[in-house]
Amino acid sequence: MAKARIAVLVSGGGTNLQALIDAQVSGIIQSGEIQVVISNNPGAYALERAAKAGIAGEVVTKKECGSQAAFEEKIKGILGTYKIDLIVLAGFMSILSESFTSAYPKRILNVHPSLIPSFCGEGFYGLRVHEEALRYGVKVTGATVHFVNEIPDGGEIIFQKAVEIQEGDTPEVLQRRVMEQAEWKILPAAVEKVSKQLCG
Ligand code: GAR
Repeated sequence: MAKARIAVLVSGGGTNLQALIDAQVSGIIQSGEIQVVISNNPGAYALERAAKAGIAGEVVTKKECGSQAAFEEKIKGILGTYKIDLIVLAGFMSILSESFTSAYPKRILNVHPSLIPSFCGEGFYGLRVHEEALRYGVKVTGATVHFVNEIPDGGEIIFQKAVEIQEGDTPEVLQRRVMEQAEWKILPAAVEKVSKQLCG
């Protein structure tokens, strides 16, 4: 059967996108294929990663669209054009409304840099998550890949991986360790698992 057609939504550096591209090349992902990368930030380095890998890139900003509804409609249009089966939020720093998420039940994945339900929900994104984990003083954190529904970071969990916090960690050092040891592994694994189910 044909591969699941994947769109990756990004906002920044795109190291998780890179992990997905690398996983396609190495064969960790074989049931799906990235067709398009959509960024809500025209300056996102993730767009360069996409271009280098020969993947189409699209930019959709809330500013140019004028409203959340118009922003989401524009994204939906692109997803339709590319006949997308699976949407992956990989460092996408914009919350999607229920009208969007309910249009793709069990077809949107997100990677979050903590062990949900800790340090998650509205306002918890990027470095902020690691700052809060260090402030609280937890000894173990990690990453979660989950389906996206109308509750921010509230959808069904697919994979989680724990990462130890070490003495003297800064948010930046911890972020990098969580990416290396958890995010870049469980995101490709989850994409393969769900793609396989979709095309199986
Ligand atoms: C990653 O740590 C990702 O888990 C996080 O932002 C970073 C993006 O890095 N996402 C969130 O916090 C979403 N709530 P990347 O652009 O290098 O993949």
